[in-house]
Amino acid sequence: MKNYIAENKQRFIDELIELLKIPSVSADSSYKEHTFKTAEEVKQRLIEAGADKVEVCPTKGYPIVYGEKIIDTNKPTILVYGHYDVQPADPINLWDSPPFEPVIKKTDLHPEGAIFARGACDDKGQMYMHVKAFETMMKTDSLPCNIKFMIEGEEEVGSENLGTFVKENKQKLKADVILISDTGIIANDVPSITTGLRGLSYIEVEVTGPNRDLHSGLYGGAVANPINVLSKMIASLMDENNHITIPGFYDKVEELSQEERKEMAKAPITDETYIKSLNIDAVQGEKGYTSLERVSIRPTLDVNGIWGGYTGEGAKTVLPSKAYAKISMRLVPHQDSDEITELFQKHFENIAPKSVKVKVTPHHGGTPYVTPIDFAGYVAAKRAMENTFGKTPIPVRSGGSIPIVALFEQELGLKSVLMGFGLDSDAIHSPNEHYGIFNYMKGIETIPLFFKYFTEEFNS
Ligand code: BES
Ligand code: MN
Ligand code: MN
Repeated sequence: MKNYIAENKQRFIDELIELLKIPSVSADSSYKEHTFKTAEEVKQRLIEAGADKVEVCPTKGYPIVYGEKIIDTNKPTILVYGHYDVQPADPINLWDSPPFEPVIKKTDLHPEGAIFARGACDDKGQMYMHVKAFETMMKTDSLPCNIKFMIEGEEEVGSENLGTFVKENKQKLKADVILISDTGIIANDVPSITTGLRGLSYIEVEVTGPNRDLHSGLYGGAVANPINVLSKMIASLMDENNHITIPGFYDKVEELSQEERKEMAKAPITDETYIKSLNIDAVQGEKGYTSLERVSIRPTLDVNGIWGGYTGEGAKTVLPSKAYAKISMRLVPHQDSDEITELFQKHFENIAPKSVKVKVTPHHGGTPYVTPIDFAGYVAAKRAMENTFGKTPIPVRSGGSIPIVALFEQELGLKSVLMGFGLDSDAIHSPNEHYGIFNYMKGIETIPLFFKYFTEEFNS
């Protein structure tokens, strides 16, 4: 197996590069054709790797690519999930090379080189590791159990149609565990396995003042400026301790025991990690918690975008009629996305002064997820990584969200193993996203071992 991977390394890299050239941006309809084409391409790659019954399943949005290899119905089945869609590449002018023209470059953290392209890590690169690991098991006659693939094209926009697909195809998706590579490790010499994902509430707000844009000299001072008002309202959502002020927001938040927090503190991530890599002078966050805790076991509120008024060249003295913002809250276990969205909505309407009207529009949400570390899936991932990294992986809760994972558990009764290989510094969703060749190859080597150990653990 190791030989097969080494012999085919260059081809594995070249194939990924070809896939990265197709701009499958799910959020932007001008990329529609390319996104559909990517699904066809993934189907083709699965067929070539040796999968049966490969199909592009249509949905109301982008299709889901399904494929399987059933070798023996008495053996366990691993369902692999991933996504072929990517985030928009904006702001394009901050990329050092075009986002859909992949190039390999060396970096401090990736001395062996990394592939720079939108989707290199999130998630085409990580998803494709599974296709190549599967090919490897097929070609070396070492697939130890059944495998099913479910690769979607709407993860970056909320996975709504996948939810429907899962509910309607429970039999087809019958499996014993779900395996996902769409998260990361602490560092290339510090392997870790993700044991939690945060949930999400995403909201858009509109603040309206006067019925039209006004001359800021003739009216300024007497009429509410919606941008001033919105800024103040947003600022009031957190107090001086960076505690969120929405009434009821923390009611269901699970507090970790001192013991659990002590265990967490062993992970080699400190304030310095952030300060150095982000070129900031200090970290900032909720009082009473470490940086690592702030990005994993604590809920947060962030403004993702804010606009209104005049932003063109030069100066225009205007008192705008409207101001807007997109606000997201990351949630932790037991917080309910719909409930938090409602609390936000009520509070935001409450704190608005009489001088403006506010409109709150909810976007997609997501439920938080945590996995135990003593079930067959986790143990198999741990053994696999121990083997390929030569170190025991550390369990860590991630701050990111993959909303569909909670639905998998709810609808299919299946736990997900979050065995990702990216680094936080891979710049996913940002300009210059990249994925280390080391990480890509490590994934392809580790996945077949997961299959082997899961089959063993399952039978024991
Ligand atoms: N793969 C990421 C989530 C992720 C990355 C989790 C790294 C843990 C570590 C996923 O594609 C993503 O970006 N999710 C979105 C949510 C979605 C509803 C747009 C997120 O977390 O913002
Ligand atoms: Mn992803
Ligand atoms: Mn993403």
